[in-house]
Amino acid sequence: MTMDELKRQAAARALEQVRDGMTVGLGTGSTAKHFVELLGERVKAGLQVTGVPTSEVTRADALRCGIALTTLDEVDRLDLTVDGADEIDHALNLIKGGGGALLREKIVAAASDRMIVIADESKWVDALGRFPLPVEVMPFGLAATRRAMATAFAESGVSGQMVLRKDSGGHVFVTDGGHWIVDAHLGRIEDVPHLAALLSAVPGVVEHGLFVGLASAAVLAGAQGIRIVERH
Ligand code: A5P
Repeated sequence: MTMDELKRQAAARALEQVRDGMTVGLGTGSTAKHFVELLGERVKAGLQVTGVPTSEVTRADALRCGIALTTLDEVDRLDLTVDGADEIDHALNLIKGGGGALLREKIVAAASDRMIVIADESKWVDALGRFPLPVEVMPFGLAATRRAMATAFAESGVSGQMVLRKDSGGHVFVTDGGHWIVDAHLGRIEDVPHLAALLSAVPGVVEHGLFVGLASAAVLAGAQGIRIVERH
């Protein structure tokens, strides 16, 4: 089975949790895209749901699939968000933002009663950090922000190169919110909540890709089948 088929399987399993009348957060990335497509098929078959997209790309995908959309200004809480991740640890802490949508993804996840993470098994790790940690920053004062980030890393016992993300054309990558992303190559993060708190306190950091205490469950698809891990 290909990686893409595994991603679709995970998406299909998460879809079983969607009920008529729900408001559902729609994640971003190649795995979440499968979920949006499968949800669209259910909508065409009569399921009534409203979606809140986590990026402009997902908004376009959802509309193409016939999913009715709303915004966080129009609803108080979402019933469920389904999204992918770049890494998932055993406490269901996540690294997200490989696709650059971490800010809206975190806002939507935090406004949801439940967040189900869908992924192929390769995303399941003993410790977060091998995947470079995306940190969304204000363009203004970038050098000062990077210095403060380095201090936060040192205080948390990690270090590594910080790389300003570029797009495929070599231009600075700009997020849906008009910010930039610094990818921090940290290797292994021992204390995820501590680093998350330190980064959140850095002026100039708009949001970081550590998702702590947000995921309720992970649906992991591998060669041996599907495994569901619940957060306790
Ligand atoms: C988007 O910003 C990310 O958080 C994605 O959810 C994450 O990168 C996973 O993407 P894939 O499903 O494409 O691996």
